[in-house]
Amino acid sequence: MADEHVKDSGTPETAEREKRDNDRFIFPRWTNYLGPFSAVMAVGGILYLAVLITAGFHPRNSAIGYSPQQPVPYSHALHVGELGMDCRYCHTTVEHAAKASIPTAEVCMNCHKSVHTESVKLLPVRESFASGKTIPWIRVHDLADYAYFDHSVHVNAGVSCVSCHGRVDRMEVVSQQEKLTMSWCLECHRNPDPHLRPREEVTNMAWMPDEDPAVLGARLREAHDINPSTDCTTCHR
Ligand code: HEC
Ligand code: HEC
Ligand code: HEC
Ligand code: HEC
Ligand code: HEC
Repeated sequence: MADEHVKDSGTPETAEREKRDNDRFIFPRWTNYLGPFSAVMAVGGILYLAVLITAGFHPRNSAIGYSPQQPVPYSHALHVGELGMDCRYCHTTVEHAAKASIPTAEVCMNCHKSVHTESVKLLPVRESFASGKTIPWIRVHDLADYAYFDHSVHVNAGVSCVSCHGRVDRMEVVSQQEKLTMSWCLECHRNPDPHLRPREEVTNMAWMPDEDPAVLGARLREAHDINPSTDCTTCHR
């Protein structure tokens, strides 16, 4: 009884015990309160590192204008701009899947079996066609793995390739046109209207609305019940 009373008051005995405790644990007692903090710091630090590593060492270059040299000097300006080919002739999955497929050599050989059959520029295409090994195209657009993107949703909502990739039909070499950062995604998710067009025009790079794009967009949005989400789990799952 008397002992208990002594414990609770600031008597020399308490001070003595505190000193003993401090000696035993080496660190001053107040550092006990750091326990929960250091746990948070440790987890936060690991996450921070993980993000840094993914961002820093991810084999991509997020800069606008990124335009790697490709193994074959394939030109969109020639095939789309001049010959008038539709994107979906080659990027066949763009309306149905998350990824827009890159064509195999077979697709190129539909024409190049008879066009420019001796061209040195097309040598890797003929080799790939013969061996079945894919042409080592270098990725231009490449989000970090922690961000989820889906082409089909956008294309079917009436968002054109042009909104995100620019005038590909004028490019000799594909280059990145937009930042592809989170704030860029969100900007459109908050106000998609100016980017909406009739679905059948999504691959028409030169299409222009004959009215205010925001007015047309608002109408299309209403008609197709389009409502892009800004929840974190939409893009980080
Ligand atoms: C004749 C086939 C063909 C057609 C038609 C075609 N493309 Fe491509 N596209 C390719 C090939 C091959 C690549 C990979 C090489 C490169 O990046 O140039 C590619 C790459 C791309 C890329 C870059 C992919 C990456 O690595 O990030 C985009 C964007 C793209 N195409 C958009 C389009 C759009 C938009 C259209 C229609 C306006 C279109 N393409 C029409 C064959 C085609
Ligand atoms: C629909 C037919 C068609 C398809 C499919 C096609 N091309 Fe072509 N391509 C052409 C034509 C036509 C030319 C020649 C244009 C000219 O010389 O005026 C050409 C030219 C080229 C050239 C320039 C050759 C040179 O020596 O100047 C390259 C490189 C090329 N194509 C790559 C590709 C690749 C890679 C693919 C597949 C992703 C592909 N093409 C698919 C029709 C096609
Ligand atoms: C809303 C923006 C947006 C639209 C619209 C869009 N793309 Fe993309 N595209 C992207 C992003 C973002 C990537 C990178 C995806 C990744 O790294 O996961 C990409 C990547 C690609 C690639 C490389 C392969 C892949 O899927 O990663 C091709 C090819 C491509 N797009 C073609 C097209 C074509 C063709 C159209 C129109 C029919 C189109 N895109 C419409 C944003 C868009
Ligand atoms: C130019 C406009 C635009 C841009 C840029 C854009 N989006 Fe979208 N996004 C849309 C529209 C429109 C929809 C369709 C919403 C609907 O149908 O209700 C959509 C839908 C989505 C969905 C599907 C949501 C679901 O309900 O399944 C995902 C995921 C998505 N966007 C991710 C992204 C990411 C990641 C980026 C950036 C790399 C991006 N978007 C950039 C307009 C855009
Ligand atoms: C419309 C799609 C979209 C939505 C919604 C979204 N993000 Fe992102 N987020 C992205 C993209 C795209 C990136 C960048 C990926 C890259 O750099 O390749 C990103 C990057 C990030 C990063 C990495 C650091 C940075 O800024 O680059 C964090 C953290 C993050 N998002 C958290 C969130 C949180 C929290 C939410 C909800 C409030 C959210 N995101 C909602 C698309 C989205």
